[in-house]
Amino acid sequence: MLSFRPLPCLLLHLFLDLLGPEGSQTGSVPSAVKTLVWGPGLEADPVLPARFFFIQAVDSSGTNLTTSPGEKTFEVKMVSPTEQFVRIWIQVLDRQDGSFLVRYRMYATYRDLQIHILLKNKHVAQSPFILKGSIYHEGCDCPQPIGSVWEAHMHCPQSFPQIDRDLDFFASVDPDRNAQEIPERFGQKQSLCHYTVKDNKVYVQTFGEHVGFRIFMDAILLSLTRKVRLPDVEFYVNLGDWPLEKRKSSENLHPIFSWCGSNNTRDIVMPTYDLTESVLETMGRVSLDMMSVQANTGPPWSEKNATAFWRGRDSRQERLELVKLSRARPDMIDAAFTNFFFFKHDESLYGPLVKHVSFFDFFKYKYQINIDGTVAAYRLPYLLAGDSVVLKQESGYYEHFYNELRPWEHFIPVRADLGDLLEKIQWARDHDEEAKKIALAGQQFARNHLMGDSIFCYYYKLFKEYAKLQVTAPKIREGMELVEQPSDDLFPCPCLRKRSKDEL
Ligand SMILES: *[C@@H]1O[C@H](CO)[C@@H](O)[C@H](O)[C@H]1NC(C)=O
Ligand SMILES: *[C@@H]1O[C@H](CO)[C@@H](O)[C@H](O)[C@H]1NC(C)=O
Ligand SMILES: *[C@@H]1O[C@H](CO)[C@@H](O)[C@H](O)[C@H]1NC(C)=O
Repeated sequence: MLSFRPLPCLLLHLFLDLLGPEGSQTGSVPSAVKTLVWGPGLEADPVLPARFFFIQAVDSSGTNLTTSPGEKTFEVKMVSPTEQFVRIWIQVLDRQDGSFLVRYRMYATYRDLQIHILLKNKHVAQSPFILKGSIYHEGCDCPQPIGSVWEAHMHCPQSFPQIDRDLDFFASVDPDRNAQEIPERFGQKQSLCHYTVKDNKVYVQTFGEHVGFRIFMDAILLSLTRKVRLPDVEFYVNLGDWPLEKRKSSENLHPIFSWCGSNNTRDIVMPTYDLTESVLETMGRVSLDMMSVQANTGPPWSEKNATAFWRGRDSRQERLELVKLSRARPDMIDAAFTNFFFFKHDESLYGPLVKHVSFFDFFKYKYQINIDGTVAAYRLPYLLAGDSVVLKQESGYYEHFYNELRPWEHFIPVRADLGDLLEKIQWARDHDEEAKKIALAGQQFARNHLMGDSIFCYYYKLFKEYAKLQVTAPKIREGMELVEQPSDDLFPCPCLRKRSKDEL
């Protein structure tokens, strides 16, 4: 028997040699010891609707795998020392690039959980990870003290440049004066919400007819106040698409919080309701979120279709131009409307409506066109998180993170009138490696700045910095109602956080 042993080895070597370095790369197997694991979901304190961490498969020589070793390579288990079953839903998402995104949603609060990450029954990296103390679930109303403890636990950045820029226009804010002037100035024509957070309770009054979108703002405020105590703060949220404050002089500016900013208004931007909801409802009501998109990026770059892709509705003139251009140059662009609402649908110009395409299917294409709708197109975070390259129209409209994106680093810029779109697509086709690099840098940006932890940090920092500018005390105004925390009777949570110290 022994004498036969060298033979298979020799054959294997020959086989690998024939395949060359590429072949041995794809054949590499992850090592339990060398594989890397990191992320906020490995710690007890950062409470998120869906907690998450990353696994980067690394082979025994220390080289990162760049292709999937198989969807079921790693097994992740949550183990409680006291309970046989835990109500935690875990998903291991294969990003197809040698890395995995593990997310879990907890439906109850537990003590001293262990996270086991296994590769063929062997613990990976520092697994088991021991989360000590109480690990609170999203529904648990158990805020941490005001101050920097929560920020440190969440690993929040020191500052957000966009918050600094927005608040720079305001030397101070006067809640009493705003309560007089803002409803008078905007309350009739616009849809506004007036919020006061006092003693970490949320109060609201609405103005205008269309206030349905209030639910998104209520939801993030309730979620945030369950996690951390907010300073007393009073502010107005614009529920409409367009930013409102068009005045220029800083003396009579009114502070208005909006989901979209523009270069000729002075509204204070927040993450969009769409992104906010997708964070709150990850592994819940939504299927498209910043995590699911990373696991559904279609074929690898080299197999993606090199036609530029777009789908959407007719909410801006340039979108009409884009579809016309696509019909003239189908070899370059596949753009079509799924809906006509704002303009007259002339089928001879714009073609028939097409069926909705699943967002994940966008990533069958290398080049994604991002064009404003009524305001900024709120799909940009998801487009960036995929592994296609984004061609972004230059625009005066922006979301809370646009000003941190760099053209040619995270996306390929396109003129506002789309005059150079064909040229830019051709450039990408001629510079495939560079285009791919931009695609990956955009994806990295999204992973670092647009996941749930970053979104919570952004809101918290915004309210905290804004509260510092208040020169009169925030008040519960006449007409405001309490926004109640949803009752969590089903899975009560014992809140063991000491409150005394911070309330001084
Ligand atoms: C391997 O992956 C990890 C995690 O993404 C990264 O920090 C590291 O730089 C990578 N190593 C190399 C050599 O690319
Ligand atoms: C690429 O996409 C275009 C437009 O959707 C389509 O017409 C074309 O057949 C596709 N090419 C390949 C090779 O699949
Ligand atoms: C900013 O707004 C001005 C109008 O005030 C406009 O002319 C300009 O093109 C905008 N900038 C961008 C980048 O769109």
